[in-house]
Amino acid sequence: MSKILVTGGTGHLGRDLVPALTGAGHAVRLLARKAGQHSSVEWAPGNLATGDGIDEALRGVDTVIHAATLSPIARRGMRLVDFFSSPSSVDVDGTRHLLAAAERSGVSHFIFVSIVGLEFSTLPYSRVKLAGERLVRKSSVPWSVIAATPFYYLLAQMLGGLKWLPVWPLPTSPSNPVDTRDVAKYLAEAVTDGKCGVRPAIGGPDTMPFSDFARQYRDALGLRRLVLPLPIGRKMSLKMGLVETAERLGERNWKAWLCEQGGRQ
Ligand SMILES: NC(=O)c1ccc[n+]([C@@H]2O[C@H](COP(=O)([O-])OP(=O)(O)OC[C@H]3O[C@@H](n4cnc5c(N)ncnc54)[C@H](OP(=O)(O)O)[C@@H]3O)[C@@H](O)[C@H]2O)c1
Repeated sequence: MSKILVTGGTGHLGRDLVPALTGAGHAVRLLARKAGQHSSVEWAPGNLATGDGIDEALRGVDTVIHAATLSPIARRGMRLVDFFSSPSSVDVDGTRHLLAAAERSGVSHFIFVSIVGLEFSTLPYSRVKLAGERLVRKSSVPWSVIAATPFYYLLAQMLGGLKWLPVWPLPTSPSNPVDTRDVAKYLAEAVTDGKCGVRPAIGGPDTMPFSDFARQYRDALGLRRLVLPLPIGRKMSLKMGLVETAERLGERNWKAWLCEQGGRQ
């Protein structure tokens, strides 16, 4: 079994990825600014933005899963400033530091977690994330890129921001967001399947109009809101990050995820 360095192990995806990897018998080291609670993994203090601790974290590592990101939108919800700029210190500079160190230490596989439809989105965060992905694709370290559709937690967070409105005008664009546990399972398989390059993207099992996801969210929370379906063109949908993929489908659907949360969103 290989020694795997995970970045972003304290994040939403990372918290599901760690048990998926340790459960498959891998030795896991997490590069993190602050050590967390998992006792089944090794913690390596480090900061991607500054490059601190990266060389030490990579010692003896065969595979890197790079799942760290700095998405202000995911952290605190959408604000006007997010339409104009997004920090690149982690996704571009951090990816550059990590790749350079991975080249020096002879890492045999670098797995990059990406997002479906980045090339079509006009959001500054998407451009930053795409710049990071391009560095990976140009790297001399054998790499894989695995893109996912938006995660359920992010969808819940976005819809939660609409709670104060009595009417929700929302696009009918087809979408299939995904559960982080399904993405984690896929990444864990990618460590040992011997493949490289751009992998099939992963999305959730249900593809529906985005407005229907909002209806299910509203009903699960017992809210009385009018969802107003808004047909928009495909190009505009992609620009807004409303994406779908049928390349690989996860198992857990939105309704089940909402039930598990038990109205906590
Ligand atoms: N969210 C989505 O809908 C979505 C969809 C498709 C793909 N993805 C991709 O999936 C991956 C995980 O996303 P997520 O939503 O789970 O992210 P997240 O919850 O925002 O977690 C981000 C992670 O990055 C770490 N990080 C941030 N700055 C760092 C730094 N300077 N040095 C080291 N680590 C740092 C964070 O550590 P701290 O705990 O210290 O902050 C955290 O562990 C990302 O690559 C993202 O682009 C996300």
